[in-house]
Amino acid sequence: MRRSIVLAAFFALLVGATARAEVVQPFPGGFLWGTAISAFQSEMGAGAPDDTGTDWWVWVRDPANIASARVSGDLPETGPDFYDRYRKDARLARHGLGNNALRLSIEWSRIFPASTAAVDVSGGFTPQALAALDALADQGEVAHYRAVLGALRERKLVPMVTLNHFSLPLWIHEPLAVRDAFAAVGPDADVPAGLTRAGWLDPAIVDEFAKFAAYAGWKFGDLVDLWCTINEPVVVIVSGFINAAGVGGNFPPGVFSFAAVRTTIPNLVAAHARAYDALHATDTVDADGDGTPVKAGVVHNMVAFHPANPASPLDVAGAAHGDYIYNRVFLNAVTTGDFDADLDGTISPSEAARPDLAGRSDFIGVNYYLRAVVTGIGVPLTSRIPLFDFIPTLSYRTPRNPSAPPCPSTCSDFGWEIYPAGLREVLSFVGTLGRPVYVTENGIADAADALRGRYIVDHLSTLGGVIADGVADVRGYFHWSLTDNFEWSSGYYPRFGLASFDPVSGRRKLRASARAYRSIARHDGITRGVLARYGP
Ligand code: FCB
Repeated sequence: MRRSIVLAAFFALLVGATARAEVVQPFPGGFLWGTAISAFQSEMGAGAPDDTGTDWWVWVRDPANIASARVSGDLPETGPDFYDRYRKDARLARHGLGNNALRLSIEWSRIFPASTAAVDVSGGFTPQALAALDALADQGEVAHYRAVLGALRERKLVPMVTLNHFSLPLWIHEPLAVRDAFAAVGPDADVPAGLTRAGWLDPAIVDEFAKFAAYAGWKFGDLVDLWCTINEPVVVIVSGFINAAGVGGNFPPGVFSFAAVRTTIPNLVAAHARAYDALHATDTVDADGDGTPVKAGVVHNMVAFHPANPASPLDVAGAAHGDYIYNRVFLNAVTTGDFDADLDGTISPSEAARPDLAGRSDFIGVNYYLRAVVTGIGVPLTSRIPLFDFIPTLSYRTPRNPSAPPCPSTCSDFGWEIYPAGLREVLSFVGTLGRPVYVTENGIADAADALRGRYIVDHLSTLGGVIADGVADVRGYFHWSLTDNFEWSSGYYPRFGLASFDPVSGRRKLRASARAYRSIARHDGITRGVLARYGP
């Protein structure tokens, strides 16, 4: 009798567990499940060599930047130390999260600590040109990154490698000098003449970036097939060059100049296209065995723009203009070749179907975090950008930002509004470009881990719908981020990690919400159990 009760209870448990494990929203076979990190944000800490050769290193410790609250005063050298702990982190991603991929970046200034300008590549990336680059490269760092990529592969994690995740070598960008050169320059004035080491303001960056891409393709191509050229070029522009209250993120060089915006866009577009060509020229090894040695794309930050008042034609027009300038111009340029460089909403004959830009995207990487609400004003804020006739609200009130407007729904610790439906909205446009898509970042600053589980399930449920409905051909999802890390000008308070880390011991601790992601990754889909625990 007792035995049969025990058996019955056992079977009831088993049936319950089986029901909970039932996948109610499957993802396609071969889908990549990963997390994303970047070199500057996650490499440093403990014994890791400091990344002193970058503009960001200088930027975050400059006393004037700290005094003016452009930056938090936190420093990246107390970070999670991925540089030394990559093997353990690979294990965490594989076993702790059930992942099969990891997106990371290679620090340009670590590979090339001094200028590559003297290397002549006018004849292409010939063996001689590559040998000249090899002579300038830091071979210890090349070996280090090969070891990292090898460790990921050993753990069956497909590496997706970003070549530029915001930080630039100091030899190409002196951010304090550029900042100071703009100090007395108004937002509508010309870019000051005679700038040197001006980063994305200087067209010379295009060739130097292409050299780095060619070198990376040559040195790491046997370990990497999935390449991201530039992380969020439009964020680089907005956060570096439109530092009006509530808009820019005080990225180096921290200026407010619409002329600079116009100067940097073509440089970023060209840098992507030439890096794309360079990777295709030098990475000839098919590491994943799928017949294509290189899949290269840009990683684009996309925002769901909504009118503040849907009944106001000005707000509706403003939201459409925001969507066009922020979400579409760059992607149009590197797919169709139509590059609206003057941001006026029309493609002039010289802007149409540019052969030097068209078809430079094997996939599109989409970083999606938030919705923006737009108030239209009916007239351009500047003659430099004819379609900029709106004021966007991108973040909301937090204890650290008490003067921002109150959150209209639910917002993260960072003041970003949680809006999963926006992922489908932005992917609806991306899907029309006819390329495979990866969600290369999506995540939430949530120190208490109170919202993250639901956030993950809601966004992945939206993404599953996007795939099932054929809106876009999405091949993978990378959650930002594996561990907490250095959140640029804001330092350490925004906690984006699925795992926290102890700054003294370096020990990682998975947050409870990581279980939701692990379950989804392991099942290649959303189970009944996960939906019951985290769903709406
Ligand atoms: C993205 C960046 C990434 C991180 C997240 C929160 O815009 O690519 O480095 O800062 O936001």
